[in-house]
Amino acid sequence: MALSLIFLLFFIFTTTIPTTLSNPIFFTTKTYQSLIQTKSPTPKITYKTQFFPQHLDHFTFQPKSSNIFYQKYLINSQYWDEGPQHRAPIFVYTGNEGDIEWFASNTGFMLDVAPKFQALLVFIEHRFYGESLPFGKDSSKSAETLGYLNSQQALADFAVLIRSLKHNLSAEASPVVVLGGSYGGMLAAWFRLKYPHIAVGALASSAPILQFDDITPWTSFYDAVSKDFKDASLNCFNVIKGSWDELQAVPTQKEGLLELGRTFRACKDLQSIYSVRDWLWSAFVYTAMVNYPTQANFMMPLPAYPVEEMCKIIDGFPQEANKLTKVFSAASLYYNYSSTEKCFDIENGTSAHGLNGWDWQACTEMVMPMSCSNEGMFPPSTFNYKDFSDQCIKKYGVTPRPHWITTEFGGDRIEQVLERFGSNIIFSSGMKDPWSRGSVLKNISASVVALVTQRGAHHLDLRFATKEDPDWLIEQRRQEVEIIQRWIDEYHSGYK
Ligand SMILES: *[C@@H]1O[C@H](CO)[C@@H](O)[C@H](O)[C@H]1NC(C)=O
Ligand SMILES: *[C@@H]1O[C@H](CO)[C@@H](O)[C@H](O)[C@H]1NC(C)=O
Ligand SMILES: *[C@@H]1O[C@H](CO)[C@@H](O)[C@H](O)[C@H]1NC(C)=O
Ligand SMILES: *[C@@H]1O[C@H](CO)[C@@H](O)[C@H](O)[C@H]1NC(C)=O
Repeated sequence: MALSLIFLLFFIFTTTIPTTLSNPIFFTTKTYQSLIQTKSPTPKITYKTQFFPQHLDHFTFQPKSSNIFYQKYLINSQYWDEGPQHRAPIFVYTGNEGDIEWFASNTGFMLDVAPKFQALLVFIEHRFYGESLPFGKDSSKSAETLGYLNSQQALADFAVLIRSLKHNLSAEASPVVVLGGSYGGMLAAWFRLKYPHIAVGALASSAPILQFDDITPWTSFYDAVSKDFKDASLNCFNVIKGSWDELQAVPTQKEGLLELGRTFRACKDLQSIYSVRDWLWSAFVYTAMVNYPTQANFMMPLPAYPVEEMCKIIDGFPQEANKLTKVFSAASLYYNYSSTEKCFDIENGTSAHGLNGWDWQACTEMVMPMSCSNEGMFPPSTFNYKDFSDQCIKKYGVTPRPHWITTEFGGDRIEQVLERFGSNIIFSSGMKDPWSRGSVLKNISASVVALVTQRGAHHLDLRFATKEDPDWLIEQRRQEVEIIQRWIDEYHSGYK
């Protein structure tokens, strides 16, 4: 789900050479806190919370490696058919960068389908997020502690925990299916590839496993955001595209910033125009990601098809009106759909200084180069590894390893590789989601399949079903259920 879009933005707007290091899926701690606060009443989900003593380091045998930390997981056995033979499946959500309860409440699909499969549901929190903090409050203090945060340790955590759980429940015969969205979807797909003896299949929703190196064009993410707005309205796209120059032209002495602060209803006096840019930028990117066909509250409470709603607001102004006024009103839809904001915390809302887990991952293994092309609606910029690396060295004292993910998990020539060496993975995507461009969008083999919807958004399929769901979404979920059922049947038919 999101980078340090924020981290990234910080670069773009404060350096002369714009650098885009963007993973807007992932949340900085602060963004995340505000999400939690604005979260709508969560649907009734009954999970039991457990803590599992987990190894700090799975890959070395230094004395310190066997230190343990307590990893949180949620479990629901209300639909599980334990039966005498324990053959019903276990569905495991491979947690991503945040509080596991928040992901659980946005992954209602698992609860929706559990009765049909009589499945046990488990949501495992990712180390260094939520309450699964190996060094408590000091977990993100420095590279010394954050060094234990990476995707390979996280996958090993899942493997160890699942084995322990199956053992404790005498459920050795139960097939495990892993599911995840966004970074969690990447982890689900990689888990199936690395631990095929533990999971029979993976549903990887909106999982941009190809957003690394130069596998996916660097401009694809922001081009996709731009396309969403252009598809909604050409005028809307042009207004947003033209607004950055208007912002840049705001006189930066006190009067200019005061006036800008009034236009944007800022709670506090603005120190620079860059915070306004970040604030607008985040609104457009996140709204594109969560351009769901029904009213929802993932990042923020929003109406159905919020990109279209934003564009209606922009198109509703007279042509000659000030572009900044138009984009402010559009962005207000994102920040104030709940009508509860008295003013906007623009200076504070989008700047991310402080260390946190995702920025660390982005500065080490999760290097996803992104640029803004001339054709998109954002100011053009290009990813510059040197600048990016300098920022990471300054911030954490680490040098990013941009080729590590593709070395560890693959990605180049993925079709040829997975056609022969992979099986039982669903890559689901919605083309309104800018992350779709870095996901697998083609069927690779009979059992490595891509289920793509043209109007879907960021891991839409994993959300609770609603009465307003369009047919294409119902069909995508139906296919997922059918395929997962096939994996389970095949597993049992080969099980003596
Ligand atoms: C399995 O049981 C052991 C012993 O009681 C316990 O320490 C461990 O946390 C349990 N595993 C899980 C996944 O809960
Ligand atoms: C948020 O929406 C409410 C209701 O429309 C409005 O009264 C309020 O002024 C808005 N807040 C801001 C900061 O624009
Ligand atoms: C930013 O927000 C934090 C809490 O969310 C607060 O403690 C801090 O004073 C704020 N800073 C500014 C400049 O408003
Ligand atoms: C992949 O195959 C399934 C049928 O198994 C089909 O429904 C789906 O549309 C195909 N995906 C793509 C991207 O063509």
